[in-house]
Amino acid sequence: MESLEYLEKDIKEIIIDEETLQARIKELGKEITESYPEGTELILICILRGAMIYMADLARCINLPVSFDFMDVSSYGDSTESSGNVRIIKDLDDSIENKDVLIVEDIIDTGLTLKHIINMLETRNPASIKTTTLLDKPDRREMKQVEVDFNGFEIPDKFVVGYGLDFAEKYRNLPFIGVLKESLYS
Ligand code: XMP
Ligand code: MG
Repeated sequence: MESLEYLEKDIKEIIIDEETLQARIKELGKEITESYPEGTELILICILRGAMIYMADLARCINLPVSFDFMDVSSYGDSTESSGNVRIIKDLDDSIENKDVLIVEDIIDTGLTLKHIINMLETRNPASIKTTTLLDKPDRREMKQVEVDFNGFEIPDKFVVGYGLDFAEKYRNLPFIGVLKESLYS
């Protein structure tokens, strides 16, 4: 593939390259498949916008009948720090009552976003709720009670972009996870 020079010049360091990402996602797909009874109809809930690329690749590694739904929440705006406020911008289109759902997140930082989403979806009486996140920053966890069922990679407490993750809506289309040069956000 052509390199994305226009974006790559802003990256200080690649922390997870494309090959490593894709190999781990294959493993996660297998783990997820094996954790459900054969033929379970699974609803994948993409937390927009960051998880869209992860979910697209992950879904193709899950050997079950899956459907997609999307929820957009906001806790960060254009800053790199959590506000602690989680707002629902777009709710699910379909009911999850008596359905098996897997929440697909890009990254768990403080855990506030995921905790809020789980609490809200539990009130809708799904048959089961599991969670997967591509990235986990365990150093920053505030909500110890948030447990992720399928976790891709633990990463250090650095602001990362690429593979769905943005800074001010940019860099989502990089095929790897990288750290932005500090000069761009300080
Ligand atoms: P909390 O703190 O609620 O945050 O667990 C989860 C949400 O915060 C965003 N987030 C990031 N986005 N690079 C990003 O592009 C990062 O390093 C980062 N850390 C947290 C993300 O939207 C996630 O859903
Ligand atoms: Mg973001």
